[in-house]
Amino acid sequence: MKPKTIRDGVVWMGAIDWNRRLFDSLIPLPDGTTYNAYLVKGSEKTALLDTVDPAMKDVLMSHLATVDRVDYVVSHHAEQDHSGSIPAVLERYPDAKVLCSPKAKPLLSEHLEIGDNRITTVEDGETLSLGEKTLHFLHMPWVHWPETMVTHIPEVGMLFTCDLFGSHLATSSLCVGDEPHVCEAAKRYYAEIMMPFRSVIKKYLERIAPFDCELIAPSHGPVHTNPKCIQSAYSDWVSDAVKDVVVAPFVSMHGSTETMVDYLLESLMDKGTEVHKFDLAVTDIGKLAMALVDAATIVIGTPTVYGGPHPTVFFATHLANALRPKLKYATVIGSYGWGTKAVEQIAGLIPNLDVEVLDPVLCKGRPGEQTYGALDRLAEAIKTRHDSL
Ligand code: FEO
Repeated sequence: MKPKTIRDGVVWMGAIDWNRRLFDSLIPLPDGTTYNAYLVKGSEKTALLDTVDPAMKDVLMSHLATVDRVDYVVSHHAEQDHSGSIPAVLERYPDAKVLCSPKAKPLLSEHLEIGDNRITTVEDGETLSLGEKTLHFLHMPWVHWPETMVTHIPEVGMLFTCDLFGSHLATSSLCVGDEPHVCEAAKRYYAEIMMPFRSVIKKYLERIAPFDCELIAPSHGPVHTNPKCIQSAYSDWVSDAVKDVVVAPFVSMHGSTETMVDYLLESLMDKGTEVHKFDLAVTDIGKLAMALVDAATIVIGTPTVYGGPHPTVFFATHLANALRPKLKYATVIGSYGWGTKAVEQIAGLIPNLDVEVLDPVLCKGRPGEQTYGALDRLAEAIKTRHDSL
């Protein structure tokens, strides 16, 4: 897609990555992604806000072919998908300076070998005039690395947020059109990238609220033309409120653990609880992360392998712990062959989760009456707690 003007003197200069299916060799991208760079032209100076992933550097450079002058390259975030093409831009514009937070400077040097002489740091709240447009820099650490910042341009009513409010969505629509579709992608993105930083994002939402921006322009996915929609969604996601939702990631080797999961979830559904079942052998972990955004309870289903949980369950539990969802309750169910330490090992994997651990239900071999009775009691315990949320 060719450069597109968003506002007078503000031009999208990004790249659409239709084919990318994995980020950080971890996160599934079912809908690809975009890397959004924005050229901001003032009457005196020109700034490029972010660049693109190095794999798509040539796309950005072709956009810049007719741009004679760039004075500043604003790096909101040192991660390579946004800053990886800065060296190429600096080569094309030998007088251009990189503007970034003080914490970003060493990261840009270490990750991208950008010389100190090309970098100028900006303080939180600092402003820089481009002429009739002003760049107002706001440090917002941890969305998504410690150096991240955003830029407000009050004259055009725009906030440039890099990863914050982004969505991994390859689309030719520059602006949000299908709101529910983008909100779904944004929720997935929040779950995978932002959820661990929920408590700081709460403060950032308060900080940007008075700006009353007309547009929020992230560096992944479409520009938000109704910023209140994404801000309200984020307010909901980062709040402490959880829903009457149970998430059940599980692995089953010979069927017994899945039988237990199904029995428990049927019982919970009969009580009106929303449930999400994820067979970890085949699931999209992004979907699992999304389900964890609002859930009150996680039920981990695992058989026992070499005395502990199945290795795939190890991975998913470690990931859930790293994502720090606002879960209130957790438990483990599953079948084992002759002995198990699955519960103890899983408990050791979730130090970040501030949860009450409910009585686990483990059975030797196939589940029988005693196991089903224990699962009935577990369903009742979950429902009782959810009713008091
Ligand atoms: Fe889109 Fe944290 O990089």
